[in-house]
Amino acid sequence: MTDRKKTSLPMLFKKVAAGEPITMLTCYDYPTAHLQEQAGIDMILVGDSLGMTVLGYESTLPVTMDDMIRHTQAVRRGTPNAWLIGDMPYMSYQPSVETAIRNAGRFMAETGCDAVKLEGGAEMADRMAGIVAAGIPAMGHLGLTPQSVSALGGFRVQGKDALRAKKIVDDAKVLEQAGAFSVLLEMVPDRLCELITQRARDCFIISLGSGLQAHGQLLIYHDMFGLYPRFRPRMAKVFGEAGSLILNGLRQYASEVSERKFPAEENWFGMPDEAYEELLTLLD
Ligand code: KIV
Repeated sequence: MTDRKKTSLPMLFKKVAAGEPITMLTCYDYPTAHLQEQAGIDMILVGDSLGMTVLGYESTLPVTMDDMIRHTQAVRRGTPNAWLIGDMPYMSYQPSVETAIRNAGRFMAETGCDAVKLEGGAEMADRMAGIVAAGIPAMGHLGLTPQSVSALGGFRVQGKDALRAKKIVDDAKVLEQAGAFSVLLEMVPDRLCELITQRARDCFIISLGSGLQAHGQLLIYHDMFGLYPRFRPRMAKVFGEAGSLILNGLRQYASEVSERKFPAEENWFGMPDEAYEELLTLLD
């Protein structure tokens, strides 16, 4: 347990006003949430990247509300104090404003999270406004939005030319006006992220691969520890090779079992001689 206070929205805005960067990571399970809680991470996102990092799908599209609810509950148990955001999965908000409010409400009621996140710009402004009007804090997500990866032509930088960049600037403003407390910019050029950050008034901007000038930074947990086997995105700094560490441990376990070196006496439980003798007699 830590002596941290429960993070609130006013605390986050205070940090932004003081010019202190907000720390944010993804998380999908209880033990990792416990570590992130102790590290004092401000905001934790149970991303639908869960589908790729933990469930092994090739995209985020197969992830369901039930998947997200189960994992967000586990993360909440490990981090009572971080500002916890549930990521609305594919088709949990796109069909209508009502669908969006109902599923955002499920997240809040069933997981105890503090907010939700949805992808998309002006075309999702009514969903954003509906969720916020229902009393649920919501974060927007622009730039590379993985649920639209097919329409975007793959996992690539967004907003590199002036026209597309302007659309992202406009979308960020529309989301802010719809009530988003924050907008995540994923894989947009750093100068575009800086412009949007300078223009933000009632919301703060988080960068994922979009440069240093945002109000805060997000990384995918599995990327920062070399735990995702398929690829290593350029935007992800590796802060520790946990994947290799675990693999070495697994190989050592396999060889110690094969060579009968594991378990050793301290890893098992004995039985007093008297009880053992009595057992043998009983068996006779
Ligand atoms: O699902 C997720 O983890 C996300 C990040 C890529 C921002 O939405």
